[in-house]
Amino acid sequence: MRLRVNGESRDLSGVDPGTPLLWVLRESLGLTGAKYGCGLEQCGACAVLCDGRAVLSCSTPAGAFAGRELRTIEGIAADGPLHALQRAFVAEQAAQCGYCVPGIVVALVALLERTPAPSDAEVGEALAKHLCRCGAQPRMLRALRRAVRELAGR
Ligand code: FES
Ligand code: FES
Repeated sequence: MRLRVNGESRDLSGVDPGTPLLWVLRESLGLTGAKYGCGLEQCGACAVLCDGRAVLSCSTPAGAFAGRELRTIEGIAADGPLHALQRAFVAEQAAQCGYCVPGIVVALVALLERTPAPSDAEVGEALAKHLCRCGAQPRMLRALRRAVRELAGR
């Protein structure tokens, strides 16, 4: 099996394609940004981008992603400046424990890449599967609005 991850083709020939993508990313590729929360597609901690869309990686076999373009939180600002959303998260201190943050940032980056000025309904839809047990979502939403303003040059 080969997977394209963060712009590179990665050889995973020793890995069972039936292994959930999350464990291939974390254990075979050392990309530990995506987190294990529930393993049941109920919390959003494991989100990554697949062809520009946020997907949950904890349940779907890695083999199902062959030929797709995967991007993890590590690939959002790889070797470059932080994404405007990441800078806004820092500026708004939009985290408590931080466990949910990689998944939420990935979901919101996907949203901003297709909708630079999302409506509240679109934001709600993008975050529908993401839980923050620390209650930091209001700060995250402020960060999103800050990033939208920056991306619009305002
Ligand atoms: S760990 Fe995948 S949704 Fe919770
Ligand atoms: S910041 Fe702790 S779960 Fe969201």
